[in-house]
Amino acid sequence: MLKLKQLDNNQNIQGKRVLLRVDFNVPLKDGSITETSRIEKVLPTINFLVKKKAKIIIISHLGRPKGKMVPKLTLRPISKKLSKYLNQNVYFLDKNIGKDVVKKSNEISDGEVLLLENLRFCNEEELNSESFAKELAKNGDIYINEAFSCSHRAHASVSEITKHIDSYSGKMLLEEINFIQMLTSNAKKPVTCIIGGSKISTKIGILSNLLKKMETIVIVGAMANNFIKYKGYNIGKSLFEKNQENLLKDITEKCKTNNCNLVLPEDVIVAKNYESKGLLKTLDKIDDNDLILDIGEKTVKKISEIIETSKTILWNGPAGYFEIEEFSSGSNKIAKKITENTKNKSLISIAGGGDTVAAINKFGCAHGFTYISTAGGAFLELLEGKILPGIKALEINE
Ligand code: 3PG
Repeated sequence: MLKLKQLDNNQNIQGKRVLLRVDFNVPLKDGSITETSRIEKVLPTINFLVKKKAKIIIISHLGRPKGKMVPKLTLRPISKKLSKYLNQNVYFLDKNIGKDVVKKSNEISDGEVLLLENLRFCNEEELNSESFAKELAKNGDIYINEAFSCSHRAHASVSEITKHIDSYSGKMLLEEINFIQMLTSNAKKPVTCIIGGSKISTKIGILSNLLKKMETIVIVGAMANNFIKYKGYNIGKSLFEKNQENLLKDITEKCKTNNCNLVLPEDVIVAKNYESKGLLKTLDKIDDNDLILDIGEKTVKKISEIIETSKTILWNGPAGYFEIEEFSSGSNKIAKKITENTKNKSLISIAGGGDTVAAINKFGCAHGFTYISTAGGAFLELLEGKILPGIKALEINE
């Protein structure tokens, strides 16, 4: 288990400048924030620091501006949103290093909040530049990483900076890591992983790591198409990834040798296109013009039975094209069944990944899970058993 540097709750930080790295990489449409869970998630930490009367200097990235100032990726609108959440003014500066920033970081009163401009407007951020990290570190007396979702990036504000300032892991970051690590170390058995998504090659590391630790792996979504095709069925025009036969063979064999039950769809919902009506079909009835867009009733029933007997569930990747009502039934029923069992049968349920979280929110199940990770890449990499640079940087070496 990882041991990370934590701030002592009783430590006096009144008047201290706390440089707080968060992940305000939220989806935007026409300048408006369309999904706020990443902001909401970090509010308890900000409120805690406000109460402790620290001077709070927040840093984040937004999007991938590649070292250039991209007006639509400014964090300015987020300072307004944050100000509403906190019910207090949030100062904003359109830069993140330099004399003016250091001056402002000292000038704000105890308990006040200052948000700095998108870190990725400076190309040194992604280069993990030592000089940039040193400059950034001048904006605080202590540093807290509350951005688990970008801790898989070896960037200046999550990795290098920890060498130049007294650094700690945030409470939310710790909670997130503990939940994800519990899944692969001391989860209550039987443990089931429901995994979807479109690209098998991006999930191979996770599958290989998890199949040694879980009793059942259920493959859904476009990823299942690869397995259905590999088993010799026609998948028509459905999405699949070419030249993955060796990976599929490897996973199938490893599941057998590790006694992990590999569950694949037995029936599916197909359509001629995304606008047409869905049709329930068994795998042997799929036509050349069919698109597989959801799992079928028999598969849903089987997954529900598996959820019923599981004590711990990890869900990553929707079961179908849930954005369209017609093809949302599989994901909806999985979300509802997990919610029901989490509430009534003390199932431990953990979900993560952008699409999965969007599906869970859409079906009104956001409060039905034990833990929902807002991280994408970092969530997957930690499950794969990888060492994340931002986390390693906070580790206590004994
Ligand atoms: C995310 O959205 O997963 C994080 O904010 C990291 O963003 P990135 O993939 O652009 O590094």
